[in-house]
Amino acid sequence: MPPVDTPYRRIVTALPPPESLPTLETLRRIEPVAMRGQPPVMWDRAEGFQVSDRWGNKWIDWSSGVLIANAGHGRKEIADAIAAQASSHLLTNYCFPSEIRARLVEKLASLLPEPLRKVFLLTTGSETVECAIKLCRAWGIRSGGKLKHVVVSYQHAFHGRTLGAQQAGGIATLKEWIVNLDPGFVQIAFPDGWRTRDTSFESFEKSLREAGIEPANVAGVIMETYQGGSAAFAPPEYMKSLRQWCTGHKALLVLDEVQAGFGRCGTMWGWEHYGIVPDVACFGKGISSSLPISAVAARADVMDLHPPNSMTSTHTGNPVCCAAALASIALVLKEDLAGNAARMGEILHAELKALQARQPRIGRVEGKGLVAGVACIQAGNTEPDGDLAWRVVERAIEKGVLMFAPVGYGGGTVKICPPLVITEPALRESIQAFAEAFAESV
Ligand SMILES: Cc1ncc(COP(=O)(O)O)c(C=O)c1O
Repeated sequence: MPPVDTPYRRIVTALPPPESLPTLETLRRIEPVAMRGQPPVMWDRAEGFQVSDRWGNKWIDWSSGVLIANAGHGRKEIADAIAAQASSHLLTNYCFPSEIRARLVEKLASLLPEPLRKVFLLTTGSETVECAIKLCRAWGIRSGGKLKHVVVSYQHAFHGRTLGAQQAGGIATLKEWIVNLDPGFVQIAFPDGWRTRDTSFESFEKSLREAGIEPANVAGVIMETYQGGSAAFAPPEYMKSLRQWCTGHKALLVLDEVQAGFGRCGTMWGWEHYGIVPDVACFGKGISSSLPISAVAARADVMDLHPPNSMTSTHTGNPVCCAAALASIALVLKEDLAGNAARMGEILHAELKALQARQPRIGRVEGKGLVAGVACIQAGNTEPDGDLAWRVVERAIEKGVLMFAPVGYGGGTVKICPPLVITEPALRESIQAFAEAFAESV
């Protein structure tokens, strides 16, 4: 590999660097095989939109971890807030009240539209989905009896790896271990207009009929605001009809914003692209740009279905994690990072569309703001090409653009999601490197 040396990128060793091999070997020996999925880039420092290893290599980050570092990596404001809270003699307080937890839920509620008035803090994205499922079912039973328990979600969706989140997900291979799948989880085609041609809302109702589901028995519809595996959004008209349908059938509309929230899509909340508001929303990842914390927001009548002490979590609103989230949200707001994502996103998507016009092995470019999915397809047809996607990712890394492993249907989608602080020169330079990586991979 030729060395790379620009103001933003530096690749000066073999990859992976020989010195990193003992650590990689330790991880391989002790961690589960399942943890081996990512390219072997050993992170040592991550600052702003760049990631470095200990051996002189530096990448423009197109991963944000996995859509975590919205406000940028290693931000001083966040590190200072964490340090201040960590040395303030309060490291944990379970569900006992704390001022910092009050500050965070109040902040989140103030940023959310009506009717999302109540906020419950958790630790991971999967937990927020589990909580959303619990709310849907409790709501269904309350409003329509036990038959009203069906949770509708979407094929190819990913909502996390715990039992309920995995069943709400739409990836069959990830559910094989469950064996006795709950028939109250039903997935229908996601209206992306490409893999699913029919994007009309009638297709939603038709799919339910085909699955033998009575609308009256639907407790909730859970959807990623955009599909993580492709970065595809649904048409706004479909979403408006879905919103009406849910209201009409007393089903909760849940939007999983674990990837889409906190400015990622060029708006504070991804659902703003649809002009609707859900009844329940799930947040994680970019909420803190750092420590593990997540949140569910919901209508008060929905969130308050469960009596005291029946919906809690040991680490809810951990004070150090709250400090991180408050500092990250303050940066997203103060620096208008949603606005930067919108501006940089215009450049990113225009350049990717231009690349698609030159590269027939790109079947589709999806996404909004600073999230994009580039679907790699086989020559002569539109089936996903996971091998090509991997070659592109590896080649990009060799050129100093850090990407995570391909995702989505057939593992064919190369996902682009830099921290929202990326600057135009760094973005343009990384797009150029990516275009070269693609050309060298086909
Ligand atoms: C849309 C979505 N929901 C939920 C999750 C699960 O989040 P976590 O890994 O924090 O449990 C993810 C993780 O990738 C996700 O992308």
